[in-house]
Amino acid sequence: MAHSALYQVPFAMYVNSDSSLPRSMFEGYHVPFHDKLWASGLSLELKNANSGPRSRSIVCMSVQQASKSRVAVSPFSLEDAKEPPMHVYKNKAPYTATIVSVERLVGPNAPGETCHIVIDHGGNVPYWEGQSYGVIPPGENPKKPGSPQNVRLYSIASTRYGDSFDGKTASLCVRRAVYYDSETGLEDPSKQGVCSNFLCNSKPGDKILVTGPSGKIMLLPEDNPNGTHIMVATGTGVAPYRGYLRRMFMESVPTYKFGGLAWLFLGVANTDSLLYDDEFSKYLQDYPDNFRYDRALSREQKNRKGGKMYVQDKIEEYSDEIFKLLDGGAHIYFCGLKGMMPGIQDTLKRVAEQKGESWEEKLSQLKKNKQWHVEVY
Ligand code: FAD
Ligand code: A2P
Repeated sequence: MAHSALYQVPFAMYVNSDSSLPRSMFEGYHVPFHDKLWASGLSLELKNANSGPRSRSIVCMSVQQASKSRVAVSPFSLEDAKEPPMHVYKNKAPYTATIVSVERLVGPNAPGETCHIVIDHGGNVPYWEGQSYGVIPPGENPKKPGSPQNVRLYSIASTRYGDSFDGKTASLCVRRAVYYDSETGLEDPSKQGVCSNFLCNSKPGDKILVTGPSGKIMLLPEDNPNGTHIMVATGTGVAPYRGYLRRMFMESVPTYKFGGLAWLFLGVANTDSLLYDDEFSKYLQDYPDNFRYDRALSREQKNRKGGKMYVQDKIEEYSDEIFKLLDGGAHIYFCGLKGMMPGIQDTLKRVAEQKGESWEEKLSQLKKNKQWHVEVY
């Protein structure tokens, strides 16, 4: 249910009837595939496609038929740098970007609200997959009168090409932070987090101050295009993985052809809280040998002991395979709730001990080899 409504975007695709023309020309047509449309599996009847100079034929096709087709991206100069862009805009001189869209990602039965926010940076704040932007919410810092609000960090949920595939936008996956009454411990709906609330309430055209990009720990290592990447997320921690997976399975990037294994473990509250599920399910359908996707629904499923099903329970279920993959050089990433890390470490330690291995030694080796990536908040 979550994230299943269709985007009402105009759709046009002009396919040249002359098959002798190079594929790059075909790819050069910028298909305004939005992620949902791309992932929806709907039949698209494309008629009257003779408005462009190179479009001579009427094309009837279905997404099913063209399910593995990839989306053309530009500019390829975004692949040229040897190092990721860092702190192009600093807190004292942020970039003024524009909100393109804000969309609720979760269904009505999700506890809390998470939004997908597309920001137009005009190509001026480039970033790599796995990096974060800073956002300075409007208003005064309550702790420092006269000063701006503190910057808040958000993992970028798009690839460097953005959701419009032209390198001009960045997307964020933002959960409205809630306040809890210190006496009752209950949620106080009259108060909400400053920046997440500002972002989720913003409207297309609104201005937003961004800083960054920042962060190197979650960059996708690309030295081995056939490598294994085990991605563990709770809630909005899925953001960087959406970027990785689009790069691996959705976009056509000549210098990055992924042929390894990407394995996503996503922990959310219930079915309605699933994030980008259509997109991930599509990869499963199209790339069953390269993608695995396991969901832990804490408030719908039970673990072996009858408790809540958390991502660490899923990890435990597949621990033999995970340990083998790590021994073979796999990268493992954790992103999302800080609170998940003790549970994950306990689980991995228990599994290691059952195998007669020392978790401390294994962890220090993983860290030394740069296979261990953690970004929790
Ligand atoms: P704030 O107003 O800063 O409040 C934060 C919390 O503090 C509230 O939920 C509340 O519980 C508590 N609080 C504050 N003041 C009070 C008070 N007076 N009384 C009671 N409680 C209070 N978030 C995402 O949603 N998506 C991401 O992709 C993401 N990525 C991140 C990446 C990194 C590297 C880091 C460090 C953080 C990331 N975050 C992400 C978290 C984000 O930066 C913000 O911390 C979050 O959005 C909350 O900010 P806020 O301004 O909305 O809430
Ligand atoms: P729960 O809130 O049921 O305890 P969401 O953003 O959709 O709420 O997703 C966050 C997910 O992370 C929820 O399923 C939440 O479960 C779960 N979670 C909360 N605490 C932990 C923890 N310590 N370890 C792993 N998962 C956790």
